[in-house]
Amino acid sequence: MDIKEAIRQRRSVRSFTGESISETTRKDLRDFLSGLYNPFGGHFTIRLKEFDLKNGYRPATYGMIKGASDFFVIAMADDEMTSLAVGFCFEQVVLKSWQLGLGTCWIAATFRESDFNSGELWPENEKLRIVCPVGYAAKKSVVEKITRLTLGSRSRLPFEELFFDEGFGKPLARDNRFSGSLEMMRLAPSSKNSQPWRALVCGDIVHFYYLPKGQLSVLDCGIGICHFYESEKSEGRCGQFFKDNTVAARHNQWVYLVSFRN
Ligand SMILES: Cc1cc2nc3c(=O)[nH]c(=O)nc-3n(C[C@H](O)[C@H](O)[C@H](O)COP(=O)(O)O)c2cc1C
Repeated sequence: MDIKEAIRQRRSVRSFTGESISETTRKDLRDFLSGLYNPFGGHFTIRLKEFDLKNGYRPATYGMIKGASDFFVIAMADDEMTSLAVGFCFEQVVLKSWQLGLGTCWIAATFRESDFNSGELWPENEKLRIVCPVGYAAKKSVVEKITRLTLGSRSRLPFEELFFDEGFGKPLARDNRFSGSLEMMRLAPSSKNSQPWRALVCGDIVHFYYLPKGQLSVLDCGIGICHFYESEKSEGRCGQFFKDNTVAARHNQWVYLVSFRN
């Protein structure tokens, strides 16, 4: 499955079969973790952890996750570049997992930290903030169905409300050179499906802005930017990210984050 198909198909999975992932798959995922592309720096650590369900131990996710024995656990520092990098890097893992036939679900709120943190030592200034089950999807539980309905997980904001051309008054045309990759950004997952990303295209540059809706807005934006970048890469276009000091730091409530040139 190519990356754009993975982006189109992916959904959060909260109900799993209980079958553990194989040692080979676990190794593939660990190898993938060690080769993540990170243009943003920051300080974070991602590990893959296995829980023995047969022992009856269930790390608490407040009923949200069923039947998962393997979890990614992510510790991170508390700064903007780290949040951007975690979103950008870990979404690569989410998409890779989907390509391997595995479901995942970013979890930032509905988990008991102490259950996932036992025995873990993290680098200084990093704290466990995200967990993510990974495994084979089972039929959706009633809780999962209700959660998806409540969050409106299937819907996304219209393209015209998110992406602009030369100025924030003019929506981006569908035939713009960046539209295909921005459409991939539009489909990205975000906490509570908040979709706090906006982009302004100026010639061969895309400026990314975020709407500070909560603590996870920059991280969410990193996830969307990952989809954008993966799509550009799949078209053989490998541009560069940079901070552009000449653009407005804010537009209304939107805050400038980073730019991409190709
Ligand atoms: C950073 C982040 C944090 C999330 N935290 C939770 C969570 O704590 N509990 C949960 O059930 N879902 C969580 N989600 C999943 C979102 O609700 C889900 O991605 C969104 O509703 C869109 O649905 P989709 O992933 O199926 O496209 C999180 C997603 C992201 C990106």
